[in-house]
Amino acid sequence: MSSRPVRIAPSILSADFARLGEEMATVATADFMHVDVMDGHFVPNLTLGPPVVAAIAKVSPLPLDVHLMIEPADPYLEAFVEAGSAIVTVHVEACPHLDRTVSAIRDLGAKAGVSLNPATPLETIRYVMDKIDLILVMTVNPGFGGQKFIEAMLPKIAACRDMIGDRPIMLEVDGGISPTTAPSVVAAGADVLVAGNAIFAQPDRAAAIAALRAAVG
Ligand code: DX5
Ligand code: ZN
Repeated sequence: MSSRPVRIAPSILSADFARLGEEMATVATADFMHVDVMDGHFVPNLTLGPPVVAAIAKVSPLPLDVHLMIEPADPYLEAFVEAGSAIVTVHVEACPHLDRTVSAIRDLGAKAGVSLNPATPLETIRYVMDKIDLILVMTVNPGFGGQKFIEAMLPKIAACRDMIGDRPIMLEVDGGISPTTAPSVVAAGADVLVAGNAIFAQPDRAAAIAALRAAVG
C-alpha cells in the first residue's frame, strides 16, 4: 500500500497501569512506546507525570514517544526529556510560542513533535516545519482511549503529507486506529500509527501489532 515504512506506537493508556513493565514487554515488536500525559485542564482527563515516565523509560523495550496534552507545556519540557523521552510532542493549541517551544525540545536533546486537534488547521505549523521531527494529527479529540476515528481527518493527513514534502518529518496519527482504519490513514500519508485499544484490548499483543502491519503492508 505504501513504499514508506510504517511504524507502530502502542499507547499505554489502554494498558494495565498496575503491571506496566509486563505490559510494555508484550509490545516489544512495535517501534515506539506512546505515553499519553494529560493534565485535567487542556484535556478532560488526568494521567501521569515525569516520575512515572522516568520509571517507564527504565524498563521500556522501545523509545518513548511522549504525547503532552498539557497547558502550559513549556515549564515541564526539561523534566520530560530528563525522564527519558526520545520524542516530546506538544499541542499547538497549548503553545502560544510554538517556535520557541520546539526549539527548546531539540536543544534539550529530544526529537520535537507538534500535535493538532481535529479542528486545528495545518496552517498553524507552517512556519515551524524546519524545526520539527514529527507531526501528530489527532484523529479523535484527545482525552480518552477507545474513541471513534474521525473520517474528516483523511484529507488533513493528505494535506499534511504534501506540506511535509521532502523534509524528514514523521507523520503520526492517534485515535481510533485499528486494522480497519489503518489502511486509509497510511494511504493518505501517515507513517506512524498510535494504537491503544487495537493493541492492549487484544489478548495477543504481538498478533495485534502484526495485524496492524499486515493491514498496511
Ligand atoms: C487520546 C490519546 C491516544 C489514545 C488512543 O487522547 O492521545 O493516544 O490512547 O487510543 P485508541 O487507539 O484506543 O483510540
Ligand atoms: Zn496520544
